[in-house]
Amino acid sequence: MSNTKHRKNSEYQKGGHLVLIGFMGSGKTSIGRSLSYKLKRAFYDTDKMIEEREGVTISELFKTKGEKYFRELETQVLREVRDDRIPRIYSLGGGTPVSLQNQPLIKTIGTVVYLRLQPEEVWERLKGDTTRPLLQCDDPLGKIRSLMKLRSPAYERCADIIIDNGSKERDEVIKEILDELQNRGWEIPPESFKPSTEADNTENKE
Ligand code: S3P
Repeated sequence: MSNTKHRKNSEYQKGGHLVLIGFMGSGKTSIGRSLSYKLKRAFYDTDKMIEEREGVTISELFKTKGEKYFRELETQVLREVRDDRIPRIYSLGGGTPVSLQNQPLIKTIGTVVYLRLQPEEVWERLKGDTTRPLLQCDDPLGKIRSLMKLRSPAYERCADIIIDNGSKERDEVIKEILDELQNRGWEIPPESFKPSTEADNTENKE
């Protein structure tokens, strides 16, 4: 049996979600929304799910209940995603793949796309951002570098598809993802390959 065939068969045994992972600022939400429109699937961001459930922002949650509490919620939400039988697109928080108990869960819930960026590219996108509690420190670029070094192996372990998303146009990234999915046997509507319009920023609602 060829490698490709073998890989394909094992992918068919996974859950049917499309899962986006990557560092903070890697474009999971924006790419997820476009893919939602193009693949006609609903898009969910697990951070938003946690915020809605707890009734506070992630920053507030870190402040009042601490990171450990937030990480427990991440795992809980991940289990719910695994049990969700309707194929959807899920974007996971940047730290979700780090936990050893989350990794096998992530690998079973669907096809996992890792949006990869260099630390300097993340910094360019996130300087001035106040919504990421982990980066509210004296040396955010240093923190991005050290976290990225620590996390990259986890992202790579979880990923089925790795896409460099640093300096590319969004359409190019979307096309790369759709091509990869098609190679894995996904049925992609032909119109999805057309360049994006304004409407493509609107995710599919259920
Ligand atoms: C985190 C990333 C954030 C959010 C929280 C912690 C992390 O999500 O879950 O601030 O540990 O990298 P985004 O990756 O969507 O910014």
